[in-house]
Amino acid sequence: MTDLRDTYSRVLAYLEQQLDDDPVHGWILHETVARGIPEIQITLAQGRFLQLLASIVGARRILEIGTLSGYSGVWLARALPPDGLLITLEVNERHAQLARESFARAGVSERVRLEVGPALETLERLELDAPLDLAFIDADKPNNLNYFQWAWDRTRSGGLILVDNVLANGRVVDPENDNYAGSIRAFNDYIMAHHKAQSTILPFFKEDEDNLDGLLLVRVP
Ligand code: SAH
Ligand code: DHB
Ligand code: MG
Repeated sequence: MTDLRDTYSRVLAYLEQQLDDDPVHGWILHETVARGIPEIQITLAQGRFLQLLASIVGARRILEIGTLSGYSGVWLARALPPDGLLITLEVNERHAQLARESFARAGVSERVRLEVGPALETLERLELDAPLDLAFIDADKPNNLNYFQWAWDRTRSGGLILVDNVLANGRVVDPENDNYAGSIRAFNDYIMAHHKAQSTILPFFKEDEDNLDGLLLVRVP
């Protein structure tokens, strides 16, 4: 019988060999571990996918909620034209410090505005000079709906809103009482009640756990 874990890890190694072309990504992952910052960044295949989506929509204004060490931010910023802007929000100053270094190493600092503080508070005072083309929500999951609604009101027609971890490591399908998974389940129910026709959830393998999570895509009509 095939060992599914073994297949996962071999497929992930294959994806890394096929898709990685940027030494900055490896540097960020190394520093993340070295500084004791949680390794909860998106996967390599997700990073490439986000970058492609940003290119496909011709993104010039991107909002990211949940910077961590700047891994997803580098992927997104690389899709921007020189006058494009990634606004990325992070509550943890230690994470933000590494992210600043990551953006500098990647040579994208001029296209990135990093705002430190609780994202809901930052959003309250955030002024945009143009509508968003893409929003990537990847922070405290119970606020997903708040973040989604903020982004929905400010994203242009044809733009995209993406939300990470909407399968909660597979826990969304467990009936047991689980506040974290429950908040994500309620969020997914809201999206499917209101935006199903222009949405999907893509399952993806996670790199360092034999686990599965999901990325939600919503097109703004
Ligand atoms: N997008 C990153 C991963 C983000 S992990 C990547 O894929 O590379 C989630 C991040 O959200 C953590 O760094 C955490 O500190 C941050 N976060 C949690 N709650 C937050 C809040 N209320 N406001 C802003 N950031 C928050
Ligand atoms: C967690 C957060 C994430 O954004 C993620 O991709 C995985 C885990 C977390 O808070 O545990
Ligand atoms: Mg995530």
